[in-house]
Amino acid sequence: MVVRAALLPVTLLLCFALPGSADVARTADGFYELKNKKGNFSIKVTNWGATLVSVVVPDCHGDLTDVVLGYDTVAGYAKGAAAGSTIGRVANRIANARFVLDGKTYRLFRNDGNNTIHGGHRGFNKVIWTVKEHVQYGDSPYITYYRSFDGEQGFPGYLDVYVTYRLSDPYDLSIHMNATATSKATPVNLVNHAYWNLAGHGSGDVLEHELQMFASQYTPVDGYMIPTGQVAPVAGTNDVSREYYKCFEEKEYQTESKRNETFGKVIFGKETIQETWS
Ligand SMILES: *[C@@H]1O[C@H](CO)[C@@H](O)[C@H](O)[C@H]1NC(C)=O
Ligand SMILES: *[C@@H]1O[C@H](CO)[C@@H](O)[C@H](O)[C@H]1NC(C)=O
Ligand SMILES: *[C@@H]1O[C@H](CO)[C@@H](O)[C@H](O)[C@H]1NC(C)=O
Ligand SMILES: *[C@@H]1O[C@H](CO)[C@@H](O)[C@H](O)[C@H]1NC(C)=O
Repeated sequence: MVVRAALLPVTLLLCFALPGSADVARTADGFYELKNKKGNFSIKVTNWGATLVSVVVPDCHGDLTDVVLGYDTVAGYAKGAAAGSTIGRVANRIANARFVLDGKTYRLFRNDGNNTIHGGHRGFNKVIWTVKEHVQYGDSPYITYYRSFDGEQGFPGYLDVYVTYRLSDPYDLSIHMNATATSKATPVNLVNHAYWNLAGHGSGDVLEHELQMFASQYTPVDGYMIPTGQVAPVAGTNDVSREYYKCFEEKEYQTESKRNETFGKVIFGKETIQETWS
């Protein structure tokens, strides 16, 4: 997506279900907790990478379980996986670590073979975000904010980026992101990189999980996971899910270790959960 002038709405919405007004406590080391009034739904985030650290929800018996992967310390994120982090300026791969925009060629870091991934060496998940607003009670627990500077990681122009985590009734967690290019056109593609295990992290693999995605189109990729430029229609949600799933499974067994590692994390969650977690 190329953002021209002043706009770039990227919205990511994840839904659970939960009650009420939020009771927010700030903890040390840049970790922030948001908790509902009833005390059985809470999340932790850190301003390192505007990262979602934990999501604790009650299961059907009322037992509280943390359903995302996260590190206990900022140091864990600094050297570890991008679990739960906000990825940008461009989350996806950029072929050959370069692009042309408005007649100018921009060169980026190669951190995925010849390509760029996750915004470069020091993408949005490896910087400290300013907490712009921190509402302790009510519907809008807090907002983080980051200003990406002109030339950062090779990308053009300044970019104002907001990521808002919000708890609402009954057990809803939403993540809203937006970015505004204030000086030059730039590609932008933000994502939250959380690894979910709805049975609780460390409880086993996620192979029986079902994911529903409300999308009408998707972007096919080539053998190096580079988007081909095509925007293909989604014929039927279930069909596309199956197609991707099969694709991940095949890659797990047939491609070189780097790709195996990247995609193995998503589908073959069990081993990665333990590795990432220890
Ligand atoms: C959450 O806590 C409230 C207050 O204790 C309780 O009434 C409610 O049943 C709990 N929700 C779940 C799903 O356990
Ligand atoms: C990177 O590009 C060079 C030149 O085209 C090629 O020889 C090399 O195999 C590529 N490396 C990878 C990891 O794709
Ligand atoms: C981006 O989100 C922030 C925080 O919610 C909001 O104040 C701002 O108006 C939004 N900007 C755009 C362009 O939507
Ligand atoms: C890829 O992942 C599979 C399953 O986790 C593992 O058995 C295999 O050794 C991995 N391959 C490489 C090259 O890392």
